Amino acid sequence: MDAPMKWIASAAFGMEGMTGRDLKHLGMQNVRVMDVGGAMFEGGFADAFRASLWLRTCDRILLVMGQFEARSYEELFQGVKAIGWEKLLPADAAFPIRAKCVKSQLMSPSDVQKIAKRAMVERLKSAYGTDWFSETGAVFQVDVSIRNDRVTVSVDASGEPLSKRGYRTWNGEAPLRETLAAALVLQSGWHPWQPLVDPCCGTGTILIEAAFIALDRAPGLTRKFAMESWPCAPHGEFEALRAEARKRFESGSQRALNVAGSDIDPEAIELARRHVKQAGLAGRIRLEVKDMRDLMPAGEPGVIIANPPYGERLDNVRAAHAVARQLGALQKRSPGWKLCAFSADTGFEREYGRRATRRRRYYNGRIECEYHIFE
Ligand SMILES: C[S@@+](CC[C@H](N)C(=O)[O-])C[C@H]1O[C@@H](n2cnc3c(N)ncnc32)[C@H](O)[C@@H]1O
Repeated sequence: MDAPMKWIASAAFGMEGMTGRDLKHLGMQNVRVMDVGGAMFEGGFADAFRASLWLRTCDRILLVMGQFEARSYEELFQGVKAIGWEKLLPADAAFPIRAKCVKSQLMSPSDVQKIAKRAMVERLKSAYGTDWFSETGAVFQVDVSIRNDRVTVSVDASGEPLSKRGYRTWNGEAPLRETLAAALVLQSGWHPWQPLVDPCCGTGTILIEAAFIALDRAPGLTRKFAMESWPCAPHGEFEALRAEARKRFESGSQRALNVAGSDIDPEAIELARRHVKQAGLAGRIRLEVKDMRDLMPAGEPGVIIANPPYGERLDNVRAAHAVARQLGALQKRSPGWKLCAFSADTGFEREYGRRATRRRRYYNGRIECEYHIFE
């Protein structure tokens, strides 16, 4: 492949700006936050690998293979066929295709998928002088996304979404995506030397993401990325980047950490314990079974981050309101503490008893939620 390549760090609604800012911190070139879908940057395979290791709020890293306009299937076919696929894909590559169409002339994902596949096969046939592709080798998941008639063709360098860090193997009733939990911690304004408390921690996602930030632990440290199986990638550079990330965690892990979580449900705390251990953080996060009505944060004031049950997916609306009132009471008896609550309960602030100082909107899956920050 000719450098520099173009990459998309895809991110969910509300997290595009944070992802762009983190790409800049990583020193990526020509970072541009997109209106929807994430942020673009330029670089080689090693840059994309570093982004995969370190970005906390990004869903996937995609290698952009081509961008063009298409209003007909013929234009789509020619556009996909014009891409130099043979520079990336070996003859035995598996190349499944995902398609997404938004506000365009071409609105059938299954047809787009078929035409794009045919165009890729045509291209590879003449490049490799064969008309049979076993597709038994490394996987190159192709994404064809059409928005307002503009086609972006990319290859997924991540494989499993980056939210899958590898530590969460059991799910509680309504766990947060790891990328969203990281965004909540980053947005809260918490400094790693301050105490952090999650009074309804469930399976512990917010606590683990906070500890990763504080201890300089790359979120992707212990997982694999699809690009690691690509024959053309610089595997030695990848190993060196992972070793450097491991070293940073080893030296960061000596830092003081004051992170604690509790939950009324003993099973949730048991899951949180297992996840903390799997994240390599055994003994670094305090966990206990406790009703938040009995919680009394002690010591220096810090930040409380809560993802309470919010009616739509757990319990009922009345119970969600009750928890909002309990959180309001918790802040009242915790002078100096900032409280941040992530909830889909539209009556949250009324029940809490105060208007939030700041708010941000995110989606938890398909559920629209608000992140209320009470200074
Ligand atoms: C939406 S879940 C939290 C999920 C969590 N963020 C995670 O990633 O797994 C809400 C949690 O609030 C807990 N909860 C409900 N009422 C509570 C109370 N009064 N005190 C403490 N925890 C409570 C539930 O047991 C549940 O685990």
